[in-house]
Amino acid sequence: MIRLLEKDVKIPYDLLLLADETVDAIDKYIHQSDIYVFELENKMIAVFALQTISSDTVEIKNIAVDTAFQGQGIGQELLKDAISLAKEKGFKKIIIGTGDAGVKQLYLYQKVGFEIYEIKHRYFIDNYPEPIFENGIQLKHMIVLKKDLN
Ligand code: ACO
Repeated sequence: MIRLLEKDVKIPYDLLLLADETVDAIDKYIHQSDIYVFELENKMIAVFALQTISSDTVEIKNIAVDTAFQGQGIGQELLKDAISLAKEKGFKKIIIGTGDAGVKQLYLYQKVGFEIYEIKHRYFIDNYPEPIFENGIQLKHMIVLKKDLN
């Protein structure tokens, strides 16, 4: 089961940093986001953050599963939970962005119904102080995927 993290509790940066490079980058959205956590035996092992973009669109700004628990289907379940939550809240669209070299993420997001609809050119070059590498490839552009919730 996931639960919404209360606003006054410690932000789980350790998990969020698995999906984003720096605390500064996370701080640009996390304080305006709802943070949902997944716990096992009272230990927080996964997280996602939802930010309202407009009256009809919500964005998954960050999704991360503790490395020891990755590859067991938790990420996929959390994406489905995020989609259900967005629907329940009455949003029409849910979006998620990832790096162009994030092969696993691109696969996973499309598997749960997201479709690529925008490329933010040079996003990771222009918005981060250091080059970021994933799968041995420098991240350059952000791929934004969308799922209609009708
Ligand atoms: N390459 C391709 N596919 C892979 C790989 C890989 N290296 N590893 C796993 N997969 C597949 C799995 O086989 C599974 O597919 P299947 O059901 O067809 O077998 C699918 O990916 C989903 O696997 P899950 O077990 O549900 O994913 P997981 O629990 O590991 O969560 C996540 C995915 C959130 C990306 C996790 O790996 C993670 O925290 N990674 C580090 C942080 C990160 O990159 N977050 C996303 C950044 S973008 C953003 O936050 C908006």
